[in-house]
Amino acid sequence: MLTVVTRPVRVRAPAKVNLHLAVGDLRPDGYHDLTTVFHALSLVDDVSVVSAPTISVTVRGEDAAAVPLDGSNLAWRAAVMVAEASGRAPGVAITIDKGIPVAGGMAGGSADAAATLIALDELWGLGLSRAEIMKYAARLGSDVPFSVAGGTAVGTGRGEKLLPVLSRNTFHWVLALSKEGLSTPAVYRELDRLRERGTPPRAGDPDELMQALASGDPTRVGPLLTNDLQAAALSLRPDLRRTLRAGLDAGAIAGIVSGSGPTCAFLCASADDAVEVGAELSGAGVCRTVRVASGPVPGARVTRDERGR
Ligand code: C5P
Repeated sequence: MLTVVTRPVRVRAPAKVNLHLAVGDLRPDGYHDLTTVFHALSLVDDVSVVSAPTISVTVRGEDAAAVPLDGSNLAWRAAVMVAEASGRAPGVAITIDKGIPVAGGMAGGSADAAATLIALDELWGLGLSRAEIMKYAARLGSDVPFSVAGGTAVGTGRGEKLLPVLSRNTFHWVLALSKEGLSTPAVYRELDRLRERGTPPRAGDPDELMQALASGDPTRVGPLLTNDLQAAALSLRPDLRRTLRAGLDAGAIAGIVSGSGPTCAFLCASADDAVEVGAELSGAGVCRTVRVASGPVPGARVTRDERGR
């Protein structure tokens, strides 16, 4: 039986890094066809929703000031979408504790949208099927379905069509967060511009990477990390070259711009190595701050507090 919940519902959703991001040509609808391998990381946003007279969004955390608190916020849009579809008023107070960098190329806004969908399904007792949640997710943004799914997955289409990937082991990462964010559309536009002027290298298919992921060996995975958006992100933010270099100098197996950037993600051989690389990188003065994370982790899911409520 479905019951309507009156206490807050709390949902945790992960950041992502693209282990492989092959970007096709610009489509007539303004998007690019992708073949990408998403990987969910233990850098998370916690979103809680509670019934309220009107809709509101509150954001807490280091990056909070950079997040819009109106109808342009993806969590807000998710709430309006689900409310309209279920014929109710969007009376909900949404609180987001941000651990994922804002405009960092790690799907932070998508994580909040995914978390809001899952939370409202429970708060309002909607009993949405997985397919329905994924349909809302894809309408909200290209990365939102993966924020729901988590794990490691191949994305095609705009990135919204997902198939899970077998990945053995936990991989250990260091993330170098940047002072300023990058706009995803601007990075895609820059890639189109670079491609008009020349022929920046294009990623092939991710078959070899899939085999490396199945082997669980980070030294096999590292050299296969690839991102077509990296050239565009570096063109807009040449300083990121120094960040990438510093991570390798600190002992990472490989470094890559995460999605549209500017966060740089470094794959490390072990959890201990990641802590060491993180410490060295934070002393190198090439980024705002450093985080250590691991993956894969699950997608957006309801969490309970310590008392199990
Ligand atoms: O889907 P989403 O709203 O997150 O995408 C943000 C922007 O990123 C799009 O407006 C588009 O400029 C760019 N994009 C793209 N191709 C994709 C995904 C995103 O060009 N597959």
